[in-house]
Amino acid sequence: MIQTDVLVIGSGIAGLTLAIKLAKQRSDLQISVLTKTNEGESNTAYAQGGVAAVWNFETDSFDKHVADTLDAGDGLCDEDIVNIVVEEGPLRVREIIDWGARFDREQSGAAYDLGREGGHSENRILHYKDLTGWEIQRSLMAEQKELTNITVYEHFFALDLITQHHLGYMVTRVTPDIECYGAYVLDKETHRVETILAKTTVVATGGAGQVYRNTTNPVIATGDGIAMMYRAKGRLENMEFIQFHPTALYTPAGDNPVFLVSEAVRGFGGILKTQDGAEFMQHYDERKSLAPRDIVARAIDNELKKRGDDFVYLDCTHLDPEAFVAHFPTIHQKCLDVGIDPMQDMIPVVPACHYICGGIRVDEHGRSSIKQLYACGECTSPGLPGANRLASNSLLEAMVFAHRIHLDVLKHIDQLDWRTDIPDWNTKGTTDPREMVLLTQSWRELKDIMSNYVGIVRSNVRLKRALDRMLLLYQETEALYTTTNISPPLCELRNLITIGYLVTRSAAMRRESRGLHYTTDFPNKNGHIETCIL
Ligand code: FAD
Ligand code: SIN
Repeated sequence: MIQTDVLVIGSGIAGLTLAIKLAKQRSDLQISVLTKTNEGESNTAYAQGGVAAVWNFETDSFDKHVADTLDAGDGLCDEDIVNIVVEEGPLRVREIIDWGARFDREQSGAAYDLGREGGHSENRILHYKDLTGWEIQRSLMAEQKELTNITVYEHFFALDLITQHHLGYMVTRVTPDIECYGAYVLDKETHRVETILAKTTVVATGGAGQVYRNTTNPVIATGDGIAMMYRAKGRLENMEFIQFHPTALYTPAGDNPVFLVSEAVRGFGGILKTQDGAEFMQHYDERKSLAPRDIVARAIDNELKKRGDDFVYLDCTHLDPEAFVAHFPTIHQKCLDVGIDPMQDMIPVVPACHYICGGIRVDEHGRSSIKQLYACGECTSPGLPGANRLASNSLLEAMVFAHRIHLDVLKHIDQLDWRTDIPDWNTKGTTDPREMVLLTQSWRELKDIMSNYVGIVRSNVRLKRALDRMLLLYQETEALYTTTNISPPLCELRNLITIGYLVTRSAAMRRESRGLHYTTDFPNKNGHIETCIL
């Protein structure tokens, strides 16, 4: 049994920013950070385009950033939260700069080089070449290592949040005062399940892109935190809003994850074209290739279906080669590695699952519906993305909420204590799994179901078919779970089935098309602005 003051599950931008802030403010607090692989592996580390924040007040303003966020969110953003994130954002970016994060400057060195992405009316994206996430992850890890009261547990896989349920009480979705006492965690090296007791727990487990066949998310993105919250009977919402990034690099082999070609490339002048070389975005939106992501991804999907093509092109051949390579060295190199010279050849691209807008419902202090349990980052639904996240708002949101959570935790932590009567994890009656291949096959089946029936364009028939098919996978996986020894692949599959089910069920509940959710049965908005709560 491990006892800690604050348990943070996740070492991406959300988890590490929060841990660092708490550790700096209170050197007497013990902060434990869990990560299921190594500390540096996270969605954060893959972020390319950058962080959106109002930086140049001569051309930009909070009002404009708020307006762009609300416009992308298509009626479902919480306007107060949008104002909070936009207005507090620049202060939080300044803090990580002070901790050592580097962002590119203009050639004169006087000002930051601000990029643009889809849906933004101004240049406001701070970036470090096309490796912004890598740079942020690097600087946060360096800062964390200076703080002796943070312990990072690598290869520790959180299985379940501990609540009254584990003490034998009946806990349902309508139980009013569910409390969290920590988590059961699998130490992947010893194969032991540890009980980690915490006065306060924070879920910062990131996204769930691995539920689809094509995704830009690394293999760790299996929605564990959202699924744990669902099992703990906490409140979730907006799960139907899955963001497909319009431009992932197309390769016939179908990599996992697929390599992202940043939206910043379109901000830099890249133009989408069909395989015959014709521009098409003017038929869908006056902002053309720089329209918000839902519009661009749907337009590409439509062109692919209409023409029977496997990809469209992103044309960069007209751009200044020297400037392109300076801004996008990683993208340039990756293209060369697969035999495409972006200065001579157009880049084949397809939409890919990229971000989950819904998740654990949190308030303006990052508090979930369960007591002593906060959530931060991509696993949450704080009211910022609404029905479609504006590009590069995600890193910003994580930093703003990490700050707010740290303030709230500091207010309450001294009144909290550990609950010490928690039983050990029950492993009775489990045997080693005999056919691991069954897990891989089920995972593949789930990805196929989600990609074929719950993708960019949905319908009642498709959603029903997805739910029917998923039920069988669910039953088979639950049977395996109750009879075999616990393993990360089995738990991840189980979590992803929960995610698939929640996305599909929420999609079936929304009887309209809005933002990222488009269904041929209800192609218009229905006039009622409602949130699907689970
Ligand atoms: P993550 O960074 O994903 O961290 C999750 C952490 O939780 C990891 O440490 C993981 O090990 C841990 N974890 C998960 N499950 C468990 C478990 N069961 N037990 C223990 N630990 C667990 N956003 C932008 O704003 N700008 C961009 O330019 C941008 N570009 C992107 C490019 C790509 C290719 C991708 C994939 C995303 C991009 N995003 C971008 C989105 C953004 O990167 C993510 O939303 C954000 O980084 C999420 O941060 P996080 O801290 O919430 O989660
Ligand atoms: C990108 O660089 O295109 C990704 C930006 C984001 O997801 O916010």
